[in-house]
Amino acid sequence: MYFGVDYYPEQWVYPYGGTREHPEAVWERDVELMQTAGINVVRMGEFTWGLCEPEEGKYDFAWLKRVMDLLGKGGIKVVLGTPTAAPPLWLAQKHPEILPVDERGLVKHEGTRRAVCLASDKFWEYSKRIVENMAKALGQHPQLIAWQIDNGLGGNFTEASFNEDARREWHLWLEAKYETVERLNERVGLRHWGQVVTSWKQVPMPMAAPAVHNPALVLDWCRFCSGMIVGFVKMQADLLHQLTPQCPVTTNLRPLVHRFDHFDLAEVIDFVSIESRAALRPKSAELACEIDMLRSLKKSGIRTPDGDQGFWVMEQKAGNVTWQDVNSLVRPGVLRMFTYQLVSRGATAIVFFRWRQPRFGSEKFHGAVLPHNARPTGRVFKEVALLGEEMKLLAPALKGTRVQAEVCILYSHDNDWALQQPMQPNKHFNLREHIQLFYNALHDRNIAVDFARPAEDLSRYKLVFAPSLHLLSGGEADRLKLYVQNGGTLVATFNTGLVDEHSMAPATGYPHDLTDLFGLEVLEFDMLPPGEENHLTFKGNFPASHMHPARLWCDIIEPKDCQILATFAKDFYANRPAMTLHTFGLGKAIYIGTLSHQYFYNDLVLWLRQMCNLHPLLKVPDNVEVSLRENEQEKVFFLLNHQNSPVRVQFYKPMHDFLTGNTFSGNYDLPPHGVLVLDEHPEAKT
Ligand code: GAL
Repeated sequence: MYFGVDYYPEQWVYPYGGTREHPEAVWERDVELMQTAGINVVRMGEFTWGLCEPEEGKYDFAWLKRVMDLLGKGGIKVVLGTPTAAPPLWLAQKHPEILPVDERGLVKHEGTRRAVCLASDKFWEYSKRIVENMAKALGQHPQLIAWQIDNGLGGNFTEASFNEDARREWHLWLEAKYETVERLNERVGLRHWGQVVTSWKQVPMPMAAPAVHNPALVLDWCRFCSGMIVGFVKMQADLLHQLTPQCPVTTNLRPLVHRFDHFDLAEVIDFVSIESRAALRPKSAELACEIDMLRSLKKSGIRTPDGDQGFWVMEQKAGNVTWQDVNSLVRPGVLRMFTYQLVSRGATAIVFFRWRQPRFGSEKFHGAVLPHNARPTGRVFKEVALLGEEMKLLAPALKGTRVQAEVCILYSHDNDWALQQPMQPNKHFNLREHIQLFYNALHDRNIAVDFARPAEDLSRYKLVFAPSLHLLSGGEADRLKLYVQNGGTLVATFNTGLVDEHSMAPATGYPHDLTDLFGLEVLEFDMLPPGEENHLTFKGNFPASHMHPARLWCDIIEPKDCQILATFAKDFYANRPAMTLHTFGLGKAIYIGTLSHQYFYNDLVLWLRQMCNLHPLLKVPDNVEVSLRENEQEKVFFLLNHQNSPVRVQFYKPMHDFLTGNTFSGNYDLPPHGVLVLDEHPEAKT
């Protein structure tokens, strides 16, 4: 198992460290301290273009090689970042056309990282050149085990750029998609406000305008920009695969916040790496949800440096950040607990951001493993070093284990982009919050969850949730039907199938292409302002623990041949269905025509758990998060106490604790922010 740090050796040469005689002396000390902390990998290089090519065509990779040699002496492997996230100043000054332009037409100038438009041919040309030269200079170094392509793609609001290169590519992209302008006019619905075009060149980029752009065109723009980012990564991946076939490639991702299709991106890299802000956010279910989303991006075809079938955490924040209004310290024990949360949900490597707190630059007060004074006696260093020891202990048990989920939540970027546009039926509706309600209910009952795109093969899941698939293509609808037809249980909700992939509303009833699956038709949808509520009245055996409200959105449903599980309590649609079940083929399709509070989703999961024969991993008190990594021989349980006080857990079978080697059963007091990594004691297993 790899355990490492993000390292910026370029910031630790004389006069920032070392001496005039030994300007790189700090590196040697760094390697020693890394060894003390159990570090066996570093990621570096991702912002070094300006240092590796200080003048056009003059390359200097020797210093990076010296660092790699030193790391080699310490038995530390290297993931090299291709440096395209931070183009050098000379490049932007020679070719200002590579600079990004915002939606108001203003140029974003050079002088920071990410000051580029990825549609620029020039930038691609120079990027290829630096990547090729870096791979030729360092690609055969024995320490190199993987490449990280670029860094933080889409970050700093650089998913889209409105410069002339982008405009040209946009037109080519539309032409490839629609073939004729007539078809574009028709599919996108450009008759609205008379915005029809007679040539590709006329098609606008959705820049700042007095009113709202055509949503279908904006959706295409999002797809186009996403394709640009994925294409840029693929270009580098292809180059690196060719030059260094032995090294898998990755890139570091944030939890689906940036506007590009993360699933598409995961297809062009060998393994997924994520950035975690774990210790900064107290809500464990939200963090768990983000981790599960990112883990789910790549479910097969994974190639990691050590062959493990998981994802890497390429930037686990080792302490405070610098980009919040108030950058609080991470409390003792919290970093350790959240690091375990990542491991428990499938991470096979943890790399901390960053090794040393820099003495200069905009991130100089960012937390790090080593503080400015670089003393290895600090709180964070000790916590990381302890984790280093623990990871060594755990590595053999975790080898080859994965998270296996029987439940899945559907998510598509297309749908998210459609919902992010203005003029929605209810602007208070938020897809992420809707997903989180389902996720919380599953998480709090310790049921493992994957995420998937609606078009994926869902047959491995017993239960699939489809919250608000407002945009659903015909192919996706067919997939859902196939899944239920073959015995799956699907739970879908209001705001589903209101438009197809062209953002076009159906003429055949909502949810489009799925009225037969659910045995109903949604005739209208009523929006409630925040604070106003309807209520659900249940029929049959739904275990309602509370009075469940209906909020924000109420579908007016015409039942066809579905069973009615709940109705609305009041208004002109009182007694009309709010929740239904339809048997379709061998499976069941459940429809929920409104949004409720968390208790409703908890009850729903309780009810579905029985229906779908799902078992919680272990019975533990609330606030203890349980996850499981398994393979055919081994089941490794992780218990995390998210409370700042001890929690009593009861074990009915003897359990073996990997961290202490002890075996226990009966009561166990899990300390504040404590962690247990367990399997059943061999005797209990037999
Ligand atoms: C990340 C980025 C790092 C660093 C960090 C600060 O998104 O990749 O380079 O800026 O944020 O928290």
